[in-house]
Parts: sequence; C-alpha cells; structure tokens
Amino acid sequence: MPDTSGSSLLQTSIGRLHLTNPVLSASGTYGSGWEARDFSPLSRVGALVSKTVTVRPRHGNPPPRIAETPSGMLNSIGLENKGADYFLAETLPRMRSLCPRVIINIGGEAIEEFVELTERFCKAGVDALEVNLSCPNVQEGRLLFSTDPRMCERAVAAVKRVASVPVFAKLSPNVTDIVSIARGAEQGGADAITLINTLIGMAVDWRKRKPVLGRGIGGLSGPAIKPVALRMVHEVSRAVRIPVIGVGGARTAEDVLEFVCAGASAVEVGTAAFVDPAILVDIVDELQRLLAANGTTIALLRGSLAAPLAAPSHGACPAPTHGAEGAAAR
Ligand code: FUM
Repeated sequence: MPDTSGSSLLQTSIGRLHLTNPVLSASGTYGSGWEARDFSPLSRVGALVSKTVTVRPRHGNPPPRIAETPSGMLNSIGLENKGADYFLAETLPRMRSLCPRVIINIGGEAIEEFVELTERFCKAGVDALEVNLSCPNVQEGRLLFSTDPRMCERAVAAVKRVASVPVFAKLSPNVTDIVSIARGAEQGGADAITLINTLIGMAVDWRKRKPVLGRGIGGLSGPAIKPVALRMVHEVSRAVRIPVIGVGGARTAEDVLEFVCAGASAVEVGTAAFVDPAILVDIVDELQRLLAANGTTIALLRGSLAAPLAAPSHGACPAPTHGAEGAAAR
C-alpha cells in the first residue's frame, strides 16, 4: 500500500533529477525568480527554470512585445538577456540562493553556441539544462532545431557530448508531427522532453491596420494552449522512453494533475505567474491537499490516463500499462 500521507506524495523525478514536488517555473515567465522572491518562499517549488540565456547579450525584438488576448498572452521578446558572462556572475548565484534546484534554459542560433553554454553552465554547477530549441521569435521564426527530427537530434547530441548534467529538450508545438521531433530528441540522447513552447499567433489592431506586436507575430501562452499541450504530452509520453515535462496554460493544482495524468513527470507554470507571482507555492500546497484527499501520489498518477487515443496516426506506441508500473519505467 503506497504511503499517501506526508510530503512524499509530491515527490517526483525527471530521470535522475529528484524533486520534492513537480511544480517548476516556466522559462521566460519568472525571470530568474529573484524578481518574485518577496511574494512566496521559492525554496518550496520543485525547481526554478531561468529565462533563456544566450552566449552574448541580446536586445530583443522591437516593442510592443506583449499582447493580451482573451484566454492567453502573445509575446515576442526575442530572447532579450544580458548574456552568459553576466548570468554566470550575477544571476546564477541569486537563483541558487532561492531554490535548491536550478535549471538553466539555454538558447542559440547555432549548435556551437548551445555547446559553449552547456560547457560553461555544467562547469558552474547547475541541476539540469533545458535546451530551448523552439523560440518562435528569433531566426525569422524558422524553428530550425525543432521542426526537423534530424536537426533536433544533432543539436541535442552535440549538447549531450559535453553535458555532465541532465539535458531537457524544449520543443515547439508548431509542427505537424510532434512525435517524430520528440523521437529525434530522444535519439540525440535527451534526458527529458519539455512540451510545449508557445503557439505562433498574432493580434490585430484593425483601426491602425497593424499587428499589435512590433514584430507582427509572437508566441501564444496561457489557458488557451492547455488542451494542445495536454494532447502533445500524452502523445509523446506514449511514444518515447524518456520523461516528459508539461508546460502550457497550467494555473491550478488541478491543471498540474491533468498533465501528470497525461504523462508528465513535472509541470512548468508560466503565464499564470504574471497574474499572481505567488501562484507556484500556492499550487504546491493545493497539490498536497488534493492528493491526500484522493489517496494518491504523483508517482501513482503519472501516465495513468485511461482514455484511448484516437488511432496513433504518427507512430505513437500502443497504450502502455500505466499507473505505477508505467511510471516506474520513466
Ligand atoms: O521571445 C522570447 O524570448 C521567447 C522565447 C521562447 O518562447 O522560447
């Protein structure tokens, strides 16, 4: 009989990375956590995930960079950041002081840049790297590394050759066949897959006859994309042997449990933190209550979704035996 009392019911792991709970900040929505440190004790979240860091500083895209839509948010930040030197000297120590688990999201225009960042961050000491292969707001939106399985595999393999910490590949939903891209990441040696980055969209000011965002298009996040994220987490978690981290529109403990049920080992909370910066810790508390009340644990719930998927049209495996056994394999 599993122990469904106490804090162990929240424990999870993403491969060899063990976490006290599955609630993570989503890259790009929480800065480094430092900006939100006065709102809640961030030592209680599963892990802090940084905004994407690039080798050199980036100014980002022309404003406006954010547009609200009825059930989501469009962004076109363009990976603005102060570069790796600044991050390593100033930001990483701050993140470390806030949370026992720190995951650094890295981005680049070329494989060599991912490799350089991997070497530097592994040397500095981080818990894992999330490789942002999927920002829709740079490289003219070409999504070079997350729309072609072979390119994805090459980028991940290059990072893995020099990495001494777990490597998570963050993929784009802006593809026809997410399973083939996820398999590319797995082939490259990824330790986990983060799904999903934003969906490309646009907002229009018809009076000005102009798009609202300075760059025209941007990435949609928030509640609007949760059903897409759940579907992709479910499809991919059935098709690969590595863990999946869910992200996309989660804003409550119930949402987190939906992702876990669909196959996620952890869940990143993003856009909701713009509305309430204390929401991550509130979700952890509510998760504890919900799991205890239902006599279950994250480990038991992971991948336990019973619903048959419609015919696996693009190579998903047949439905596995889920629940504890399925989860144990991840
Ligand atoms: O534009 C941005 O900085 C967004 C990044 C991302 O979605 O990965």
